[in-house]
Amino acid sequence: MSQPPAFGKALKEQEFYLSTDDVLLNNGSFGAAPKKVIEAKRQHELIMENHPDAWYINGNVRNEAYNTSLEKLANFVRAEKEDIVFVENATRGVNDALKSLKLQANDGILLNNFSYSSIKNIAKQQSETLGAIVHSLDIKFPIPTKEEIVRQYTEYMDAHPGIKVAIIDHISSIPSILFPLKELTTECRNRSIITIIDAAHGPNQVDLDVPSYEADFYIGNLYKWGLTCRGCAFLWTAQSHKERIFPVVTSNKYKEPYPGDFVWQGTREEGAFTAAFAAFDFIDWLGRAAIRDYTKSLGDWTVQELSSAWETEEIGLGEDLRAPCLRLVRIPDTKAFPKSIIGATLLGMALREDYKIRVRLFFLEQLVSVTVLINAITVNFVQLVIYLFIVS
Ligand SMILES: Cc1ncc(COP(=O)(O)O)c(C=O)c1O
Repeated sequence: MSQPPAFGKALKEQEFYLSTDDVLLNNGSFGAAPKKVIEAKRQHELIMENHPDAWYINGNVRNEAYNTSLEKLANFVRAEKEDIVFVENATRGVNDALKSLKLQANDGILLNNFSYSSIKNIAKQQSETLGAIVHSLDIKFPIPTKEEIVRQYTEYMDAHPGIKVAIIDHISSIPSILFPLKELTTECRNRSIITIIDAAHGPNQVDLDVPSYEADFYIGNLYKWGLTCRGCAFLWTAQSHKERIFPVVTSNKYKEPYPGDFVWQGTREEGAFTAAFAAFDFIDWLGRAAIRDYTKSLGDWTVQELSSAWETEEIGLGEDLRAPCLRLVRIPDTKAFPKSIIGATLLGMALREDYKIRVRLFFLEQLVSVTVLINAITVNFVQLVIYLFIVS
């Protein structure tokens, strides 16, 4: 096998279809699949379009690719393949897990102030239809240690004994916090609280060992940092919940034992699943440790450059709570861009339109600052730094 190109510009230009006109500093929203993965998906599409009937009914190519992808995924997350099913995205997997619990009136669902909007809505829907009660822990900054975030959780859970299930991020998106999963699931289990891990941002941003978190359900997006095509995620279910888990879409295998309906959700597009093996091959080609080292040093360097140029600071998180590819630096006060959601939106527009830089900007009220979220895997940061010198 050939040597991979150097990380950054060479990797982006050779291995991705990403536009070279823009500087994409937002991998975290929609990901970007490498050419090799898209090519694997295209090949399957051609085989399927050649013989649609054979693809679904005889299904040798489909089944082999699906199983290979599942096996490589299991190896990638250090889980048993029998405990994993592919789902389209994190929103879908959390729907499946939460709705399988068949909550009753007054059962509590614990979220936090940084839970993702679709996850908040799933809990809200359960509240509106079943009478479940949605709790939101107001996580307070700074968070210097893991123990501090665990303390905030346990204090809240002890004050609200009706909580039946906690939906905890592996890595939250805004602001980005790497949650201490094992410690939190242990505290939940001690209080008989079921845990659903929303790992929209976990896989391949950090190395995974899914069973070791001892959660009840773990849902990981693969299309963001895991370099699969969009529409690819997985749902891991603990042995003790295998009998109760079912997908929200009922189909031909209704009531068949796990994985039952998960493997056949009606006739659908499954290219992102069957081509997922190519993403794991690609990651192994680059080297998991090499990716980790590169993203860590790039993140550290960027934070250092920006915060010293701006005379500001990184968000107040202890070292082991920082997400490697999602780092947050406060932007200095400027007259041009007020400290508000509008200010963040205007600055984002200016970066996009005047400088072709696509970066996520957020106004974090709790911290009273506009914060730039830098999330990248394949890019060259130099242009971002130059622009930000101009603004500041
Ligand atoms: C923390 C978090 N959870 C859930 C989601 C939803 O992911 P998806 O759009 O893949 O369902 C996102 C999306 O970015 C997210 O950041």
